[in-house]
Amino acid sequence: MRTARRQPTDTTPVWLMRQAGRYLPEYRAIRGNIAFLDLCKNPDLAAEVTVQPVTRLGVDAAIIFSDILIPVEAMGIHLELGDKGPHFPTPLRTAADIDKLGVPDPVEGTGFVAEAIRRTRKALNDSVPVIGFAGAPFTLAAYMVEGGGSKSYIVIKRLLFEQPELAHRLFQKLTDTLIPYLKMQVEAGASIVQIFDSWGGELSPYDFERFSLPYLTRMVTELKATGVPVILFGTNMTPHLPLLKRTGADVIGLDWRVNVDEGRRILGPDVATQGNLDPLHLFLPREELDARVKDILGRAGPIGHIFNLGHGILPPSDPDAAKFLVDAVHRHGTALRQGVALR
Ligand code: CP3
Repeated sequence: MRTARRQPTDTTPVWLMRQAGRYLPEYRAIRGNIAFLDLCKNPDLAAEVTVQPVTRLGVDAAIIFSDILIPVEAMGIHLELGDKGPHFPTPLRTAADIDKLGVPDPVEGTGFVAEAIRRTRKALNDSVPVIGFAGAPFTLAAYMVEGGGSKSYIVIKRLLFEQPELAHRLFQKLTDTLIPYLKMQVEAGASIVQIFDSWGGELSPYDFERFSLPYLTRMVTELKATGVPVILFGTNMTPHLPLLKRTGADVIGLDWRVNVDEGRRILGPDVATQGNLDPLHLFLPREELDARVKDILGRAGPIGHIFNLGHGILPPSDPDAAKFLVDAVHRHGTALRQGVALR
């Protein structure tokens, strides 16, 4: 929490995107008996898997176990989450489809997320903060109109370019859903929130400024007004960093395609950063992984950098490598502050 506010700390804090997930045998044991969406909607089990990586890895934050598509389902579109990722069997295709979507009351539609946060806080006993999260309107809209993941993003981009007013109507509705949804998470005990604009980097800066930035800015502004810091994350967003800074987010996530010092130079001194180890670096020999950690820590410096991966941890990753990473960040982060050469 201090790092998000650019205050000094004894070492560099670290957590991993998707830290609760299939790479952990204790997660797979629970998932073996329950479907993914049912797990998200079961506050006791969701709290349990949220805490698993804190126990095993010693990370400095818990991110509530859920999915960015949970509030979207509550808007009234049928969602399936299978082995191939999220799938909407009836994607949004017409103005009527979009106008039919509701703006759900957060507690009625998604109260189980608040309940999971409360139970997680209790289980953690305030040892580490809980991160709440939501997807960005553009990223969620992309899933809803494409029907799932996409390579070219042709359906969502055609919507932007052929029917911009309709696209804005959808983004507006999503924003009106997501702000109360995040505020509910804060009220339930989330100390900080992260917004995932995972696919915003697919847009040119020109389109990002028109179709994503205004909604991100509204979300950041309203959430910051509750007193919690906001982390804004995307991939392939290095060209968009000057725009991301304009949202007023406290922390901006960097993927591995940019050096941290370069990212921080673009963002300037009053923004904290988060990232940015390539998730595939967990497959390096330990010595090489250690060198990558030191490189990132040295480039980031001692103030205002939360260590993380540049995107989510992948299912084949070795939990022992993740544990090695967390320990290395803490050890080298301490040395960095003591002015000791990192070795
Ligand atoms: O980080 C965490 O540990 C918290 C939980 C979390 C999940 N999804 C759990 C999950 C978070 C923060 C998310 C966010 C999310 N979900 C994003 C944004 C982050 C990013 O990766 O860019 C996106 C795009 C999604 C949509 C999504 N959900 C995809 C593409 C997939 C399939 C890919 C995959 O990894 O399986 C999911 C399913 C999903 N979400 C799983 C988990 C643990 C796997 C479900 C399973 O157990 O089978």
